[in-house]
Amino acid sequence: MTLETPMQTSPLIGNDPVPEEVIGRIARAREALGKHVLVLGHHYQRDEVIQFADFRGDSLDLAMRARDSGDVRHVVFCGVHFMAETADMLTPDGVKVILPDMRAGCSMADMADIDQVEIAWDVLTGATDKKIVPITYINSTAALKAFCGRHGGAVCTSSNAKAVVRWAFEQGEKVLFFPDQHLGRNTCYDLGIGLDEMVVYDPHDPHEMTGGNDPKVYDESRVILWRGHCSVHTNFMENHPDIMRQRYPGIKVLVHPECRFEVVRKADVAGSTRVIVETVRNAPPGTKWAIGTEHHLVNRLRQEHPEQFVSTLAPFACQCSTMFRISAEALADRLEELARGEERNVIPVDPETTRWALIALDRMLDMRD
Ligand code: 13P
Ligand code: SF4
Repeated sequence: MTLETPMQTSPLIGNDPVPEEVIGRIARAREALGKHVLVLGHHYQRDEVIQFADFRGDSLDLAMRARDSGDVRHVVFCGVHFMAETADMLTPDGVKVILPDMRAGCSMADMADIDQVEIAWDVLTGATDKKIVPITYINSTAALKAFCGRHGGAVCTSSNAKAVVRWAFEQGEKVLFFPDQHLGRNTCYDLGIGLDEMVVYDPHDPHEMTGGNDPKVYDESRVILWRGHCSVHTNFMENHPDIMRQRYPGIKVLVHPECRFEVVRKADVAGSTRVIVETVRNAPPGTKWAIGTEHHLVNRLRQEHPEQFVSTLAPFACQCSTMFRISAEALADRLEELARGEERNVIPVDPETTRWALIALDRMLDMRD
C-alpha cells in the first residue's frame, strides 16, 4: 500500500547506528554481568539506546518492572532522574539503580520543589477548612512523593491519573495536583469537573505569596492545579490538529495528556506513551495518525508500522532534550564499570523519604484507569 509522505519528518536525531565497537562493549559487559543487571528503557529513548533495554515501557510499566526486579543487583535506568529515583524506592533493599547520564533530568519535575509545595500547602490549608488531597504526577522528585504520602495523597502516572483523582475525591473534597497543570486539567475535565471549578496556583507569585489568587478562590474551587508544564508537549498548539486534518483527510489525532487542554479536546485519542504505542499497533493498515508526543517515539512508530501513515502532530520535531542525554556510549561505560565492580551514577533515596513516598507510590500501583 502506498501512503502519502508524512509532513514533518525531521531527520532521525540521535538515531545514528551505534558503532560496532560500542555494541561489542555492551555485549561483553552484559555477558560478564549475567542476570545480575536489568536494563530498563522508556519509550522516549533513542533507538540506539532502547535496542539494549531488557524491558521498555511507559512510566507505570517501568515502575512495576523495577518493583518486580527480583534478585538483580543493579537496575540501569535509561530514562530520566525521577524515574530512576522511583525505581530506587520500589526495588528491594540492596538493589542499586544507575542513571547512565546524570544530566538526564526532567524540566517539569524541576517546576515544583518541596519548599514551594510546603508553602502552597500552608496557603491552601489556611484558605479552606475542607480536606485537600495532594496528588503528584510521577514526574516529580522523591520529596514530593513523600509529601503526598505524609498528607494522605498519592502518586499518579498518565496511565492511571483518572483512577487516582477519582480515589482522591473519595478521600476529601479538594485535590491539589502538581506539577503538571495540563495532565491535571485534562484528567479532571474528563471526570466531569468544569474548568470553572479549577484554579491555577502559581508558585512564583511575587506579590502576596498566595499563588496568584485571592485565597478565597481556593475555598471555592474543587481542583488546585500547580503551574507547571512539559516543555516538549506544550509545543503542540490548538491549530495543529486542524492543519493536519485539512492536509490529510481522515487522519486521526493521538496525543499525550501532557498536551494543552485545547489540543487534547481536539484529539481522537489521548493517553500515556503505552496507550499511544498500543493504539497504533492495534489499528488497521492504512490508518493515518498525527501524534502529539516526543518525536523519537513517533519516528519509531513510523518505522515499525510502514502499513500505516504516522506523522508528528507539529510541523517540527518535539524532542525531550533530557531523555536524549542518555547515549549508547554512556550505557556502555556504566555497564563496564559494573562488570569491573565499580558503581557510578547511583541514584539513592534516603530511607525516611522512601518510607513516606512508598505510601503514595503503593496507592499508584494499586489503581488503574
Ligand atoms: P508516560 O508515563 O506516558 O510514559 O510519560 C512519561 C513522560 O515523561 C511523558 O512526558
Ligand atoms: Fe519531562 Fe517532558 Fe521530557 Fe517527559 S517529555 S521527561 S515530562 S521534559
